[in-house]
Amino acid sequence: MDEPTIRALRNVTFFASLSDDDLRHIAKFIGKRTYPAGHVIVQENTQGDTFHIIQEGKVEITKRFEDGEEMVLAVCGDGDFFGEMALLEGSPRSATVRTLEPTTTLEISRQGFVSLLQKAPLLAYELMKELSVRLRDTDAKMIARLQCKNEQLRQAYLDTVTAMANAIEARDPYTRGHTDRVTTIAKAIARRMNWNGEQLSSLEVGALLHDVGKIGVADAILRKPSPLSAAEYAEIKTHPEVGRRMLQGISYLESAIPGVLHHHERYDGRGYPDQLSGPGIPLAGRILAVADVFDAMTSDRPYRRAMSPQAAVAELERGAGTQFDPEVVVAFIRAWQSNDLET
Ligand SMILES: [Fe+2]
Repeated sequence: MDEPTIRALRNVTFFASLSDDDLRHIAKFIGKRTYPAGHVIVQENTQGDTFHIIQEGKVEITKRFEDGEEMVLAVCGDGDFFGEMALLEGSPRSATVRTLEPTTTLEISRQGFVSLLQKAPLLAYELMKELSVRLRDTDAKMIARLQCKNEQLRQAYLDTVTAMANAIEARDPYTRGHTDRVTTIAKAIARRMNWNGEQLSSLEVGALLHDVGKIGVADAILRKPSPLSAAEYAEIKTHPEVGRRMLQGISYLESAIPGVLHHHERYDGRGYPDQLSGPGIPLAGRILAVADVFDAMTSDRPYRRAMSPQAAVAELERGAGTQFDPEVVVAFIRAWQSNDLET
């Protein structure tokens, strides 16, 4: 995309805070189109996979109700956006968007967004965060007017951040499948500890995202086949705090923070980041610690072969009371003996 278009991007408030480098990166995934007045850009109930930012012009967003009445939900102008859910899910469009005057939009397709997630996850995350702030406003209006289901939005956030977590996992071939397995194991432990549905769903989000903060750790460190230097290890150790910062402020994901932040604490207080100990560590963190270490021990790593499950369970028992919460280890062993850990 040419410099004038990058300048145009800069004038859209949505992108105002991004650096020139970031804008150039985003520009690779953006198309630009001008529609005549009266043109239907998005048709309700049809499939669409494009997110639009209005560079110049005016559109109206309408929805048709079951009784056939069409209601104008909003009139949007320069810098506003629509079709954001198209980036997040594949369900049919919930409203119609029609131009009220000749309108130029900048467009990102879901495929473009996925490429951005893979090539520049941090940047995609920044966009997502901006979107989430705006969606909260939109969401408040939508809930009042359309009784939009909160759960759908929560799922959309979860899908997006999970895509980010998967992008991180894909950087390190040795951790492939790790996130899913940790999630299954953590839930099996929590069920043994009689957690209810809501607690389980927060734990699930925490498990899916426990290492999301590794987004900021260099590939050279994440994939290093030999032991890490002290400085490299210090960088790895920032990931729980980075993860916390990423989830803070996203209301649908905040309840997962205790697990994300504290999955590397140790029962004896010698873990990180806060050196919490015993019951002072949120239980989600104590459960994720056991699930995370068990899966790591039973997976191949560049510098060692996988341990057998029996040997890994013996290690957990040895660490009960020092590295791990003994009650969590007991719950884990019960779940393991009952074959509850299969994915
Ligand atoms: Fe971790």
